Amino acid sequence: IGKWIFMFTLMISSSFSFFCFSKVDQFSDQKKRMSENVREMFYHAYNNYMKYAFPHDELKPLTKSYTDSLGELGNLNLENLSQEYNGTALSLIESLSSLAILGDYAEFEKAVFWLSENLSFDVDVRVNLFECNIRVLGGLVSAHILATDSASRFSSGSYENQLLFLAEDLGRRFLPAFNTPSGLPYAWINLKYGVMANETTETTTSGCGSLILEMGALSRLTGDSRFELAAIRAIRKLWSMRSSLNLLGTTLDIGTSEWIEYSSGIGAGVDSFYEYLLKAHLLFGSEEMWRMFQSAYLAVQSYFRHGPWYHEADMRTGRATYWQLTSLQAFWPGLQV
Ligand SMILES: *[C@@H]1O[C@H](CO)[C@@H](O)[C@H](O)[C@H]1NC(C)=O
Ligand SMILES: *[C@@H]1O[C@H](CO)[C@@H](O)[C@H](O)[C@H]1NC(C)=O
Ligand SMILES: *[C@@H]1O[C@H](CO)[C@@H](O)[C@H](O)[C@H]1NC(C)=O
Ligand SMILES: *[C@@H]1O[C@H](CO)[C@@H](O)[C@H](O)[C@H]1NC(C)=O
Repeated sequence: IGKWIFMFTLMISSSFSFFCFSKVDQFSDQKKRMSENVREMFYHAYNNYMKYAFPHDELKPLTKSYTDSLGELGNLNLENLSQEYNGTALSLIESLSSLAILGDYAEFEKAVFWLSENLSFDVDVRVNLFECNIRVLGGLVSAHILATDSASRFSSGSYENQLLFLAEDLGRRFLPAFNTPSGLPYAWINLKYGVMANETTETTTSGCGSLILEMGALSRLTGDSRFELAAIRAIRKLWSMRSSLNLLGTTLDIGTSEWIEYSSGIGAGVDSFYEYLLKAHLLFGSEEMWRMFQSAYLAVQSYFRHGPWYHEADMRTGRATYWQLTSLQAFWPGLQV
C-alpha cells in the first residue's frame, strides 16, 4: 500500500510540475530524445567500423569493407599512394574523444590500450600535414587531455600517457616538413621517410597556417617547444605575406613565398586560418594571434562580405572575383559567436 501511495504522490507532483513547467519539461524531453539519437547514430557508425573495417582507416558502409584513406585525404588526384600502407586505425583515433564524452570509459580504455600496443607511425605513407594534424595529432592530444582530466576513466588498467607518447612521435615526424628557408611547411610529408624528393611546394593558407592548436598543445604537454615554434613561425611568415588590405590569398609556393592564387574568401583553402588565430588566442592567451585575427577579421568583413553572405575577392585589390557560396564557409557564424 505504501508503494501505491508513493506512486500516487509521485503522479500528483509530476502532473503538478507538468502543469507549471510544461514548457521546460517539453524542452528537456526533446533534448533527451535528441541526445539519445546522437548516441544511437554514433554507435551505428562506430560499431560497424569496428566490425567491418578496424584497424584499417575507414569503413565503406555500402560494401561493408574498408579503405586506408589517410594518404588520400586532401589528395584529389590520388597521387603517390603507398602500396604498402595498411591503415592506422584512423576512425578509432578520431572516435576517442567521443567515447570519453559519451561516458563509455570501458571502450575508451580498450581503444587506448589497443593503440598504445599496436599503433606505429613508422609507416611508408605520404600524408597531408594539415589533415593528419587535425585528425590524428588532434585526436590523440584531445583524448590524452580527456584521459588525464579525471581519475575515473580507467577501471582495469592505468593511464600512463600512452596517447601523449604516440602524439609526440607523430609530432616529431611532422617537423621535417617545416625545415624550409621560409618556415612555411610542405603540405605533404611521408611519415617514415620525411619530405619526399620532388615534393610539391604548393600549399594553401589553411594548410600551412592552421596547425597551432594541436602543435601548441603538444608542446605545452611535452615541454618540447619545437612543435609550437614551428607552427607560429609559419603563421608569422604567412601573415607577412598579406596584402596592404590585410587580405591573404588561397594557395602559395613555400619555396618562393609567392602567392599562386590571389583570389580568396572564407571557404576552402583559407577557412581554418581565421578559426585558428582566434582559438590560439582563446587556448593559449596569445595577444599576437588576437591582433592578427582582429586585422584579418576586419578585412574579411570589408572585402568579402556582401549583405548576409560572403563572396571571394582578389587580395590585392579587394575586387570581387567569384560570387559563390560554398559549404566550408558555414563555420563563420560559429566563429563570430
Ligand atoms: C600491408 O598488407 C599487404 C597485404 O596484406 C602486405 O603485403 C604488406 O606487407 C603490408 N604492409 C605492411 C607495412 O605491413
Ligand atoms: C594488439 O593487436 C593484437 C593483434 O590484433 C591483439 O591481439 C592485441 O590484443 C592488441 N593489443 C591490445 C592491447 O589490444
Ligand atoms: C625529380 O624530377 C626530375 C625532373 O622531373 C627527374 O629528372 C628526377 O629524376 C626526379 N628525382 C627523383 C628523386 O625522383
Ligand atoms: C607524385 O606524383 C606526381 C604525378 O604522378 C609526380 O609528378 C610527383 O613527382 C610525385 N611526387 C612524389 C613526392 O613522389
